[in-house]
Amino acid sequence: MCRPAYYAVEYAINPWMDTTAPVDAALACTQWEALADAYTALGHEVVRLEPEPGLPDMVYSANGAFVVDGIAYGASFRYPERRPEADAHEKWYRTSGWAYAEPEFINEGEGDFTYLPGRELILAGWGFRTDARAHAEAADVFGRPVVSLRLVDPRYYHLDTALAPLDDERIAYYPEAFAPGSRLLLERLFPDAVLADAEDAAGFGLNFVSDGRNVVINAEAAGFAKKLRDAGYEPVPVDLSELKKGGGSVKCCTPDRRGAPREPAPRINRRAGEPAALVHRPFGLRGDRVEDADRACRGVRESPALPAPWSQQGLRPTRRPWWS
Ligand code: ARG
Repeated sequence: MCRPAYYAVEYAINPWMDTTAPVDAALACTQWEALADAYTALGHEVVRLEPEPGLPDMVYSANGAFVVDGIAYGASFRYPERRPEADAHEKWYRTSGWAYAEPEFINEGEGDFTYLPGRELILAGWGFRTDARAHAEAADVFGRPVVSLRLVDPRYYHLDTALAPLDDERIAYYPEAFAPGSRLLLERLFPDAVLADAEDAAGFGLNFVSDGRNVVINAEAAGFAKKLRDAGYEPVPVDLSELKKGGGSVKCCTPDRRGAPREPAPRINRRAGEPAALVHRPFGLRGDRVEDADRACRGVRESPALPAPWSQQGLRPTRRPWWS
């Protein structure tokens, strides 16, 4: 976690950021310390990353990498304002004994990636920040299937603002933040999910961190905390109102290392024919297709040239969806 010592709203890269509204950096630090203390009180280890001047969003440290099985897949930020943050994370992982996979495609770490160990499944968001091609890259890096989910509401620009794991297998999410095809996929994969409504999502209620029992959650989302309690979890409310002004909350401030550094797992070579490693959509649903992902990526600043369409690389959808 990274203390918001240099926190400010100096630019606006999401709808929550208003550069004319006052921000209290000292209060942000106090709230952040309470978040760190909540983890410690629950028995979790908090590791601190040194904040750097000139990087006001560095407090949202979940965006710096995505870690599974001891491998850190590095971030590559969409906006130039945040790009130097990735270097700080890379340095930390490399000097702390982790395998570090350098990203080719734009992705914002745990902002758009999450992992469900009980299902050995990576869930990934695209539509605003992360390039959908980074989903395929992550499947290669981790040797795990990746389910691509398309985000459609600019207020919920990162997956972690609209969906979070409650434990190793179960999730909570806000359906309206996703494209129709992605919603159908989520319904099929997670029939036992806890669903959030518009008010829960607007209070950053989905941006929580759960250890399987305790759910550390933004205090504003009291209604959603009650739903989680009814579902058998123990909400731990923390007030992060100052950090909401930058468009983030509990989860954005909390990268999960998921254990210790380990030997890297064998890689999948996608180009050698591992199409099942990637589910981009229930095929046939409009507005949620691989081609749409490609088109969306085309407008991206400084994105590398698109590779040949996957269909021309010999990657075809399996006839039966892999989860059936
Ligand atoms: N101001 C930051 C941005 O727009 C907030 C990042 C929030 N982080 C997150 N994991 N959702 O990039």
